[in-house]
Amino acid sequence: MNRFAGIVMFCAVMSTLATGCAYRYYLGMHGPSIKSSLDIHQGVEKDRDCLDCHHPDQASEAPPTTHPRFTGCLKCHSS
Ligand code: HEC
Ligand code: HEC
Repeated sequence: MNRFAGIVMFCAVMSTLATGCAYRYYLGMHGPSIKSSLDIHQGVEKDRDCLDCHHPDQASEAPPTTHPRFTGCLKCHSS
């Protein structure tokens, strides 16, 4: 392999890795924190409880979630 091809390959691999990382970062992205309304969310721990208020079919003041099937709501929304 000549040197130019080597550099092209290197760039291709690096950009693939970089977008891969960015994508994973997006997946690990934190949602809006429940701490911005602590009084409402105090002591709420189970996904079920979250969905009691946030399920899209639920008529309530809480903003409906776009992802009611997710599990571990607090992993993304607690910090
Ligand atoms: C008693 C009903 C209730 C429960 C239970 C509840 N929420 Fe909420 N949640 C609300 C209401 C009402 C709001 C709107 C608060 C506001 O606008 O200040 C809200 C706002 C939010 C927001 C938007 C944050 C913001 O202020 O913009 C998120 C995210 C959220 N809740 C996630 C959760 C998660 C995750 C759980 C479970 C750990 C949960 N909620 C449990 C009623 C509830
Ligand atoms: C993988 C991380 C992740 C998980 C798990 C997760 N969420 Fe979210 N959530 C987000 C992100 C990112 C947003 C902001 C983008 C959007 O609105 O889709 C969001 C937005 C929201 C909102 C909208 C807040 C608003 O101001 O409109 C609510 C409500 C919410 N999530 C509730 C929940 C509930 C309830 C669960 C558990 C069933 C949950 N989330 C699980 C990442 C997550």
